[in-house]
Amino acid sequence: MIIARTIDTFKEAKKILTGSIGFVPTMGALHKGHLSLIQQACQENDHVIVSIFVNPTQFLEGEDLESYPRREEADKKICELAGVDILFMPTVEQMYEKDELHIGAPAIRGYVLEGQKRPGHFDGMLQIVMKLLNLSGATRAYFGKKDAQQLALITQMVKNYFMDVEIIPCDIVRDESGLALSSRNAYLSEEEKQRALSLSRSLKRATKRIMSGELDSKTLKQEMAEVLKETDKIEYIAIVDRTFNELQKVEIGNTMILIAAWVGKPRLIDNIWI
Ligand code: PAJ
Repeated sequence: MIIARTIDTFKEAKKILTGSIGFVPTMGALHKGHLSLIQQACQENDHVIVSIFVNPTQFLEGEDLESYPRREEADKKICELAGVDILFMPTVEQMYEKDELHIGAPAIRGYVLEGQKRPGHFDGMLQIVMKLLNLSGATRAYFGKKDAQQLALITQMVKNYFMDVEIIPCDIVRDESGLALSSRNAYLSEEEKQRALSLSRSLKRATKRIMSGELDSKTLKQEMAEVLKETDKIEYIAIVDRTFNELQKVEIGNTMILIAAWVGKPRLIDNIWI
């Protein structure tokens, strides 16, 4: 596995790749969720590139940019064992110059839910993903459904800017208790972890109720809020279609239920596609 820390060494390393390239962009502190994307990329492509870059432009003032978990040695081992060809770990200086032009998230889809709670987050996310996709020259790029809105916006960016890469949505990986894996789970104490389980529990409950015929969004949200009382603060419970329009009634095959809630230090998100 080649480790590239500059754009030049990355481009040099890429020259020896022939055939299709699968690309998995990450911010590191890799867990089994990331690994499932990497494994799928390995299965479907001749070569795999992973990037680890804690991207400053997608963190807002007061968020956890400084304290975001960094585990370089463990991450390298995970990538090496998984069969990654190139691990790209650039510095901020390599990725950004002063006074750049900006990619903006779309006015509606980019500014609801996560975009409303974290204004500017998606602009920074799209900016770095555009750079990384262009640099990687990937045939396919892999993103988790865990960050459903991120995935939708990246798919839209690729379409709107005629970028020649296929975006592959990947299922959410959970631990045995149901908690969606996230690098930010590292912040949770044991007690908080137990309370964090209420996110997946509320989604399971809603799914069960939908399967038994309850399609009214208001009722479902109220019932979910009951379960989510275990969290410290619910930021939103949303029932939307696949293009993020609010739904009064669940449409089987075209619905996502999304949650954001605080438990201790981290703000956690989870969702389910119905
Ligand atoms: P990060 O949070 O490190 O996530 C990298 C990728 O892993 C994303 O596509 C995310 O959706 C996916 N992922 C995270 N947890 C997952 C889980 N439990 N199951 C399945 N997939 C999971 O998302 C980012 O980084 C950044 O915003 C990035 C796209 C790298 C741009 O900076």
